[in-house]
Amino acid sequence: MIRHAVIAVALLTVAATCAAQTKPLVGDPARGQDKTRMCEGCHGLDGYRTAYPVVYSVPRLGGQHPEYLAAALHEYRAGQRSHPSMRAIAASLSDQDIADLAAYYGASPKATASK
Ligand code: HEC
Repeated sequence: MIRHAVIAVALLTVAATCAAQTKPLVGDPARGQDKTRMCEGCHGLDGYRTAYPVVYSVPRLGGQHPEYLAAALHEYRAGQRSHPSMRAIAASLSDQDIADLAAYYGASPKATASK
């Protein structure tokens, strides 16, 4: 019995150590909200349109899957998506910023962009 317990503890320790080393970035929605100021000018407008310099549609971010949002931002940053404004924005984001923003928008209600 005791030997089993020791082995179990040892395995758990190994598992915990591995998890700590390969831990993916965890987004923090509260920190993400702080970072939305530079997004809301475009993504926060009613009807999801920007009016300047021309009227154009902007995708809704609130309620999207965090994984999808993070992947999209990584793609803009890497140049795999080509929208110029979003590439410029994404270029200024760190991996942690992306994780936080994705967590925040992913947790926002579907009906509204973050308010
Ligand atoms: C200058 C206006 C503008 C700003 C500021 C802006 N975006 Fe965007 N964003 C857009 C437009 C326009 C698109 C659609 C681009 C396209 O068609 O690829 C877009 C697309 C996206 C997408 C992909 C959505 C999808 O459904 O594929 C994500 C995610 C995103 N933006 C996140 C952000 C975040 C996070 C910020 C703030 C850090 C931000 N954007 C700031 C205009 C903006």
